[in-house]
Amino acid sequence: MRRKLAAGNWKMNGLRSALGEVGILAADHLDPACEVVLCPPATLVRSMAKTCRENCVTIGAQDCHENSSGAHTGDISAEMLADAGAEYVILGHSERREAYDETDETVRNKAKAAWSAGLRAIICVGESASERKAANTLDIIGGQLAGSIPDAATGENLVIAYEPIWAIGTGLVPSIGDIGEVHDFIRMRLERRFGPGVGRSVRILYGGSMNAGNAADIVQVPNVDGGLIGGASLKAADFSKIITALNG
Ligand code: PGA
Repeated sequence: MRRKLAAGNWKMNGLRSALGEVGILAADHLDPACEVVLCPPATLVRSMAKTCRENCVTIGAQDCHENSSGAHTGDISAEMLADAGAEYVILGHSERREAYDETDETVRNKAKAAWSAGLRAIICVGESASERKAANTLDIIGGQLAGSIPDAATGENLVIAYEPIWAIGTGLVPSIGDIGEVHDFIRMRLERRFGPGVGRSVRILYGGSMNAGNAADIVQVPNVDGGLIGGASLKAADFSKIITALNG
C-alpha cells in the first residue's frame, strides 16, 4: 500500500509573515490519511520545520547542490537542508531544468547527494507542449527517468512527480486518460529497472494546475499517488481542500 502524498511547492514565494499558514494546515489535518509535505523557499525551511516538529506536516526544500560543501557561492547543500530540518527535496523541476540548464545527469547527482544527507528526493519529469504535440511524451519521460534516477532508488528515498510543463501554472490539465497513460508508463519503467518490489512502492505524484476542483478526480486514476501542488498550496485554505480530496 502506497500512502498518498500531498506536496506543496511554494517556489519563490513566502516571507516570515506566511509562517502561520502551516499552523492552519496542521490544525485542519490533525491525523490525515495522506502524508503532507510543504516545500517553502530555503529561507523558511528552518522555522517551518521547527513549527512542524509536533504535527503532521513534513518540510522539504526545492533544490540542492550536488556537492556536500565547498566553493559554490549562493548554493545550498543537501546536508545543510537536512541540518535545517528538511526531510524531502524537490529535484529537476522543469523551472530549474529550463532556467539553469539542469540535465538529467545533474538531477541524478543531486539525488545522490540528497540520499547521502538522508533526504528523500521528489524527482520531476514532464514533457513540453511541443513534445506532446509531436507524440513524443513517453519517449521524453522514459529518457528523463533513465537519466535522472540513481541506481539506489527505494520506495522510501524516491518519489516521482509527473508534471507536464504546459500544465504548470496555466490552468491547463491533461485528460484523465492521458494522466493515466503516463503514470502507468512510469510505473512500468520503475518495475522494469528496480524490480517489482521497489517499482511498486515508489509513489508517483501528478503536478500541474492541480486544485481543489480537480484533485479528487485525478487521484482516482490508477498509479496516481498524490500531487505536487504549486499555486494552490500557498494558502492553507486552498491546500487544505486538496489534502481532504487526497484523503479520499
Ligand atoms: P502549479 O505548479 O500547481 O502552480 O501548476 C506545480 C509545480 O510547478 O510544481
